[in-house]
Amino acid sequence: MYLLIPAAGMGRRMGSDRNKLLLTLRSQPLIAWTLRAAEASHEISWIGIISQPADWTDLKEILEGLCLTKPVEFIQGGTTRQESVYNGLQALPADAKQVLIHDGARCLATPELFDRCAVAIRPSTPDSLVRAHSSAPLPTPDSLVRAHSSAPLPTPDSPIKGLIAAIPVKDTIKIVDDAGFIQDTPDRSQLWAAQTPQAFDVQLLKQCHAKGLEQGWEVTDDAALFEKCGLPVQIVEGEETNLKLTTPMDLAIAEFILHQRLGNKS
Ligand code: CTP
Ligand code: MG
Repeated sequence: MYLLIPAAGMGRRMGSDRNKLLLTLRSQPLIAWTLRAAEASHEISWIGIISQPADWTDLKEILEGLCLTKPVEFIQGGTTRQESVYNGLQALPADAKQVLIHDGARCLATPELFDRCAVAIRPSTPDSLVRAHSSAPLPTPDSLVRAHSSAPLPTPDSPIKGLIAAIPVKDTIKIVDDAGFIQDTPDRSQLWAAQTPQAFDVQLLKQCHAKGLEQGWEVTDDAALFEKCGLPVQIVEGEETNLKLTTPMDLAIAEFILHQRLGNKS
């Protein structure tokens, strides 16, 4: 399974003068924790780090220290996460049918979570077998995007084409207008907090990104592009500790979680 790691951000909310993924967490760069989890995953066989060329010297040094057994490629990042993932998709090897996308900033995701997502997106039955058991022709990626929500998806025979790790929301969430007044309180039992990894059929996600560019959609995760194209995205159980390290407080919480997990081990 191919893994793309968006790592080309600035980390503005972290208040640091450099990419937050190069900051130290328990005596290792933040991105090293993400890479170690990817290395330990049984399913991942290739890693693409989407990053700014200005960080490549530091990243290469980190990789040398980690001695990963899996091939790692550097892909140039964009000005938004959406653009970075777009670049990553273009840089995938031609034989990539499915892809996992995981934010470098979610450095506490476990190898088990990567594996859960990878197994769920992998077609369990070879295409030829699915076809033999189904009288209906398999939908092509093109027809799926074009058909939008009118398409009867997913059918029992169609493997999952998009999924994300997510956890139920604990807080009550309010929708608030520009003047600071609550407009609505969505039913919490239906709310999930989206995480990464997110996993997709490569061809379909490429088409959704192309459509997003054409339509000027601005999104903060890849599932949103799938949704806007009317394609189903399944939830896979995420992890409460799978934080996106965004502010200095998150760094402190991550230190605590790693201490609980590892004690004095590194
Ligand atoms: N990212 C990226 N390319 C960008 C912006 C973000 O690859 N142009 C990556 C980040 O490196 C991070 C992930 O997308 O791993 C999630 O983004 P976020 O947590 O918002 O990180 P930053 O954009 O770096 O932080 P901030 O928004 O506070 O500047
Ligand atoms: Mg950002």
